[in-house]
Amino acid sequence: MNIKIPNHVAIIMDGNGRWATSRGLSRSEGHLAGSKTLQKLTEHIFNKGVKVLSVFAFSTENFKRSKEEVDYLMNLFIKMFKTNFKTLKNKNIKIVFSKKESGLPEKLEKIIKQVEEETKNNTAGIFNICINYGGQDEIVDTTKKLCEKVLSGELDVNNIDNNIFEQNLYQDLPPIDLLIRTSGEERVSNYMLWQMAYSEMYFPSVHFPDFDSNEFDKALEVYTSRDRRFGGINKK
Ligand code: FPP
Repeated sequence: MNIKIPNHVAIIMDGNGRWATSRGLSRSEGHLAGSKTLQKLTEHIFNKGVKVLSVFAFSTENFKRSKEEVDYLMNLFIKMFKTNFKTLKNKNIKIVFSKKESGLPEKLEKIIKQVEEETKNNTAGIFNICINYGGQDEIVDTTKKLCEKVLSGELDVNNIDNNIFEQNLYQDLPPIDLLIRTSGEERVSNYMLWQMAYSEMYFPSVHFPDFDSNEFDKALEVYTSRDRRFGGINKK
């Protein structure tokens, strides 16, 4: 079988907590295991030829979790962005963040800016990290941005179309071809709603810490077998 490589893959990294609980570990240990999986997986995915990878690291709703868990995750992100993604930087991958303008700890916001700045001229691929992110918020924030441009005279309301809308989202990215949500839950939970209009969905039952390179390759096989029609009819 000739494996098709999706241009843009998005992953909802679900199940860190359940992975940990089933092993008698703390939820934090689950997130740590998830972060190690992610580090290996990103390299594998870009090596496969995927050009854009989006991951759901933290939703706006995740702030409802215990202070202990939120603090742990924020510190884990700081550590990961500071050190662990160095190999991606060296591989010429541009790292961008899809997020609300403010709301994260100052220290984290600072590192995010730094990582974006350091990798902004990289051209081999894009790693989009969604953090303090909600899909509906992204659409509302984009609408506000466009209204401001219309009010200031920078944009004619009659020129607003899908392309202009897309270019004004948190990040200007191509459509998602393959969405993966680990852990067996079959829902999109307010993830990149605009970008996944025509994406193929894949819901493996493994928890994210166990979603390794082999599991990703299985996802590629399933993707290859899908018949994508984008509302049209494919001639056989
Ligand atoms: C969902 O599992 C996972 C998260 C809310 C956090 C994802 C974070 C990581 C994988 C850490 C590293 C990420 C980056 C970008 C450095 P859950 O806690 O909802 O699991 P559960 O549904 O089993 O409770």
